[in-house]
Amino acid sequence: MEFTAEQLSHYNGTDESEPIYVAIRGRVFDVTTGNSFYGPGGAYALFAGKDASRALAKMSKNEEDVTPSVDGLSDKEIETLNDWEKKFEAKYPVVGRVVS
Ligand code: HEM
Repeated sequence: MEFTAEQLSHYNGTDESEPIYVAIRGRVFDVTTGNSFYGPGGAYALFAGKDASRALAKMSKNEEDVTPSVDGLSDKEIETLNDWEKKFEAKYPVVGRVVS
């Protein structure tokens, strides 16, 4: 399944009848089982419906970091992102990709 960023943003947990998606490096994970994290009021709700690569790499919850851009990240940040990707792969199904 392919999603534009706009389509992905629909799956942000505000509609309880819909799954919640978070993307890492363009790969869309179904994180619905983590709804306590990503649902409304959850600690990581700002990542829901987004490609959160940059924020995950930087361990950041700043709105402006919630983007797919990995430009200028340090090696250490890339490593952090790789670790998140592994964690998500182990925990959540992949449902598609973000396309431009
Ligand atoms: C004082 C700071 C923080 C504390 C105490 C904290 C605590 C936690 C705890 C307890 C978990 C659950 C771990 C588990 O059961 O698997 C978690 C997961 C997580 N944290 Fe944090 N965290 C903090 C900061 C951050 C920051 C800054 C980020 C930004 C990237 C972040 C992103 C995440 C993500 C993405 C998960 C994974 C949720 C999942 O399994 O889907 N955390 N955190």
